[in-house]
Amino acid sequence: MISGPYPVTGVRPGLAAELGSLWTAVTRADGAVGFAPDAPEADIRAAAVALVEDVRAGRQHLIALDADGTLAGTVFLRRGDRPVILHRADVLKLMVHPDLQGRGWGKALLDAAVAHATELGLEQLLLSTRGGTSLPAFYVKQGWTQVGLFPDALRIGPDDLRDEHWFQLRLS
Ligand SMILES: CC(C)(COP(=O)(O)OP(=O)(O)OC[C@H]1O[C@@H](n2cnc3c(N)ncnc32)[C@H](O)[C@@H]1OP(=O)(O)O)[C@@H](O)C(=O)NCCC(=O)NCCS
Repeated sequence: MISGPYPVTGVRPGLAAELGSLWTAVTRADGAVGFAPDAPEADIRAAAVALVEDVRAGRQHLIALDADGTLAGTVFLRRGDRPVILHRADVLKLMVHPDLQGRGWGKALLDAAVAHATELGLEQLLLSTRGGTSLPAFYVKQGWTQVGLFPDALRIGPDDLRDEHWFQLRLS
């Protein structure tokens, strides 16, 4: 059974391990969520622990999707932390478990993040995504505007440099 997407208000025991498992599965399936596909699982799990600590400390907001009580999708909001950027947030780590992709859950998570950001009084959202994938087209389809591109800014492998595409969404 699927529940969510919902904003996480309290970090449940085991959430970091669940995120580590989800993030590893998405990474192995060539997802563009911060790691090369063959990145060591220990590195991904360490990043998951740090990210959940950010949520616990209120530095990031997590919108979650659960399948049978286990984390199956995420998107994070990281609000600007000083006056000149308090009106905006970065959207990070949008991911859906490979078994559940292509059923509308990615769009639902992104829509929930936009709704949550609006509730927080934010005025705009920013994100970046990996070139050489269909992800820029995904964000265009969701109504985001590409505002820039950093050539060769991501090293996915020794001979695999990718552009980084930057997107913005203004909230009404
Ligand atoms: C990107 C991702 C979150 C999309 O979630 P999803 O559940 O598979 O996508 P949805 O089913 O919600 O698709 C919504 C719409 O976007 C389209 N779409 C989905 N993935 C797409 C892609 N990679 N490129 C272009 N369009 C895409 C769908 O066709 C659908 O269109 P429709 O509304 O006309 O039917 C998911 O594929 C994923 O987790 N990928 C791996 C992690 C990743 O790379 N995240 C990006 C971080 S920047």
